[in-house]
Amino acid sequence: MSEKSEQTGDGGAANRRIFSGMQPSGEAHLGNYLGALRQWVKLQDDHECFFCVVDQHAITGDFSPDELPARILDLAVSFLAVGLDPEESTIFVQSDVPEHTELAWLLNAVTPVGNLERMTQYKDKSANMESIPAGLLNYPILQAADILLYRAGAVPVGEDQLQHLELTREIARKWNSRFGDLFPEPQAIRGGAGRILGLDGKAKMSKSLGNTVGILAEPPEIWDRVRTAVTDPQRVRRDDPGRPEVCNVFTLHKHFTDPELIPDIESQCRGGTRGGVDCKRILADSIDEHFQEARERAADLHARPGRIQEILEAGAQRARAEARETMNQVRERMGMTWRAAVGSGRSAAT
Ligand code: TYM
Repeated sequence: MSEKSEQTGDGGAANRRIFSGMQPSGEAHLGNYLGALRQWVKLQDDHECFFCVVDQHAITGDFSPDELPARILDLAVSFLAVGLDPEESTIFVQSDVPEHTELAWLLNAVTPVGNLERMTQYKDKSANMESIPAGLLNYPILQAADILLYRAGAVPVGEDQLQHLELTREIARKWNSRFGDLFPEPQAIRGGAGRILGLDGKAKMSKSLGNTVGILAEPPEIWDRVRTAVTDPQRVRRDDPGRPEVCNVFTLHKHFTDPELIPDIESQCRGGTRGGVDCKRILADSIDEHFQEARERAADLHARPGRIQEILEAGAQRARAEARETMNQVRERMGMTWRAAVGSGRSAAT
């Protein structure tokens, strides 16, 4: 374990180790950023962080093997563009560390199917499927393995992942009580942004729903997306009074627009003195400005693909070293130690 880690094995305050992951559905979007990424960047200064592109999770939904490699790289670029620093954080791709799937399998031993079936995400995603892939049900076991493999004490995630984290804690508890204390019960670190809605103003912002704004979108694309955003449905004509509290555009203003402008935007909305298009224009400009530096970093990285590879290879190497250490203990405690029985005179027959 590295010097930066103060792992105690109890998941308490002294455990400074962080793990979090993101699915590679291409570049990150505003929901990923507000729910997770911006928090990751802050945490890396005083924690030992592992941030992972979880490509093996992607196979449980619709995915194209031809597109996956580029999506993995695009997400890694998003991580670096918003300011994750490979000198401070271990940034890597899940499938480069085979121990994730090995631990997931072993955690199957202590995970009740009933708990998996109760997961909201599983129920939502499987609702209209004729044939449900087993991976969709078992998905949270792999997520638990991701976290427990690094014996992380805390996991910064958006609201939608809290239930999976609760299950991770339960799996850790069950495993520890059966095989001896090894895994801390990881705590969630919430970004404070709640659940960010998509441009439709109804559903969670999510790539699969096509309601996102990418954090690395160029300004014309930001405007193209933002101008389609749904506002207060009661506001039909330009000078109708609006209700900022139910308007998703206003929520996004609060995250991205200069705080000094917010009171004016709010009162102009209520008074119907500023039209929706103008209001969205300000939002698009704010998003553009907020991510300008990130776009520059991304462009720089795209020009040096060797650098991205170097970062991900180095991250995988560090991650594998930690993973190996945990798995040695897991295998030993679960009895995958037949070599120790050779010649010991102990066999099932005696
Ligand atoms: P994923 O890839 O869907 O999302 C990555 C992170 O972004 C947050 N997020 C949001 N937050 C607020 N509003 C939104 N609209 C929004 N959309 C996404 C998510 O909460 C998450 O923090 N199962 C996980 C990936 C995962 C993982 C892990 C996370 C796999 N292993 C281990 C933490 C630890 C997922 O699908 O997140």
